[in-house]
Amino acid sequence: MRLVLLGAPGSGKGTQATRLREHLQVPHISTGELLRAAVAAGTPLGLKAKAVMEAGSLVSDDIVLGMLEERLTAGDTGNGFVLDGYPRNLAQANALDALLTRLGQPVDIAVQLDVDTELLVSRLAGRAQAEGRVDDSPETVRNRQKVYNEATAPVVDFYRNSGRLACVDGVGSVDEVFRRILATLAPTPDIG
Ligand code: AP5
Ligand code: MG
Repeated sequence: MRLVLLGAPGSGKGTQATRLREHLQVPHISTGELLRAAVAAGTPLGLKAKAVMEAGSLVSDDIVLGMLEERLTAGDTGNGFVLDGYPRNLAQANALDALLTRLGQPVDIAVQLDVDTELLVSRLAGRAQAEGRVDDSPETVRNRQKVYNEATAPVVDFYRNSGRLACVDGVGSVDEVFRRILATLAPTPDIG
């Protein structure tokens, strides 16, 4: 199963990807986590990405695509993957389709986690207290939501228009949301 998780910052992509990784036995690939690891390691890529991430803006498409291609060709995605945090704009969505067509591993389904803005902001405020992620400050969270609405929201239509979108209500307990996601992945029974 090759699955893309879509949703605004704080919608639960990382949380649900961890569950899906266990359930589907496929790697969880998060471009945010790959970038945070590069920043922590002080690699040239991390040095370029650091200030952009701290502002809550998007790291350049070229940098992220190169990093993702490296990850997708690491040899452990034969059974699929759960992709979290990519694509974040239409150029990335087209680049991902081109890359995965070339690798013979097209996306099966994109799952959109739907959560209203007020709840997103309160979840990230909670995480700021608990984990201290640098981009969870109120000002940066506002910019991340703005970037999502302007650049990333159109990606939902990209998958809808190609018949690969499932929308899931992301409000409720982690278990409830996980069950809703699994229900969208279950094969539709034959009728007649
Ligand atoms: P990234 O790491 O992808 O962050 P994000 O999209 O802003 O999303 P988050 O990780 O904040 O939220 P999430 O949806 O994973 O929710 P989570 O499960 O953590 O990107 C960070 C930055 O990297 C970007 O701003 C950009 O600069 C750069 N970047 C990354 N990818 C890029 C790309 N493709 N192109 C360019 N730049 C890129 O949950 C959030 C909180 O809510 C947690 O505390 C969690 O415990 C809680 N929670 C989750 N589910 C529930 C629930 N059901 N009920 C109650 N609480 C819940
Ligand atoms: Mg995340």
